[in-house]
Amino acid sequence: MVLLVEKAQEADIQRLLDIMYAAFSKDPWNRLMYPKIPGTEARGASIERWRDEISNNPTMRFIKAVDTDVGEIIAFARWNIYEMERPESEWKHTEARNWDLGTNVDAANEFYNAICVERQKVMGGKPHCCLNMLVCEPQHQRRGAGRMLLCWGLKLADGLGLEAYLEASSEGHHLYQSTGFVDVETLDIDMSKYGGHGIHHYFVMTRSPVG
Ligand SMILES: CC(C)(COP(=O)(O)OP(=O)(O)OC[C@H]1O[C@@H](n2cnc3c(N)ncnc32)[C@H](O)[C@@H]1OP(=O)(O)O)[C@@H](O)C(=O)NCCC(=O)NCCS
Repeated sequence: MVLLVEKAQEADIQRLLDIMYAAFSKDPWNRLMYPKIPGTEARGASIERWRDEISNNPTMRFIKAVDTDVGEIIAFARWNIYEMERPESEWKHTEARNWDLGTNVDAANEFYNAICVERQKVMGGKPHCCLNMLVCEPQHQRRGAGRMLLCWGLKLADGLGLEAYLEASSEGHHLYQSTGFVDVETLDIDMSKYGGHGIHHYFVMTRSPVG
């Protein structure tokens, strides 16, 4: 198996969404936010947002891992590279989001707002590299694609001398620890508000640059 890391293109977005929804489909909190995986025709909100990120957001790096044996994208990451200090008017600004059809909008908004609050609290306007998303299609997991996409961003962060930041699921937590991330906060979501059970934990993690 040979995996290549490449820049993702607009034409990849449907495939990236397939991977994202499949990767999170067993996670109890994600099942509350997305009770039914949106079909291709129901993904207008994500497609529009990601298209805009790819074309118009200079901090955004969308990268994909391609398995050259099957010629398919199997994983991807969304990194934001904030090389410069940002003014408060920028990092405190959160835009209301549209969600794909079938999303539990209240749950998704609560999660999105909680993430924004953590990012503002922990990193504020400091220059850093933020791992927004890392997902690998379930049947291709534990083959090293996730680590490749993670290390792609960490190499960039180290070269620029920047701290890295992410919110980890428990599935990704060990992988992140193994590359030098440490826990700085926890983000807890009460799933009972949305018909689920218990608290879903995320780990807010940062990593100092190496070298
Ligand atoms: C987290 C996630 C992105 C990791 O992707 P991945 O491609 O499986 O990652 P890797 O294969 O690089 O590493 C995962 C584990 O497999 C192990 N691994 C890698 N190659 C392996 C191999 N050939 N044989 C056995 N194990 C292997 C790694 O050491 C790592 O172990 P660890 O979790 O104990 O540290 C993936 O599990 C996923 O998409 N999960 C659902 C979505 C999610 O939670 N994303 C993270 C949000 S922060």
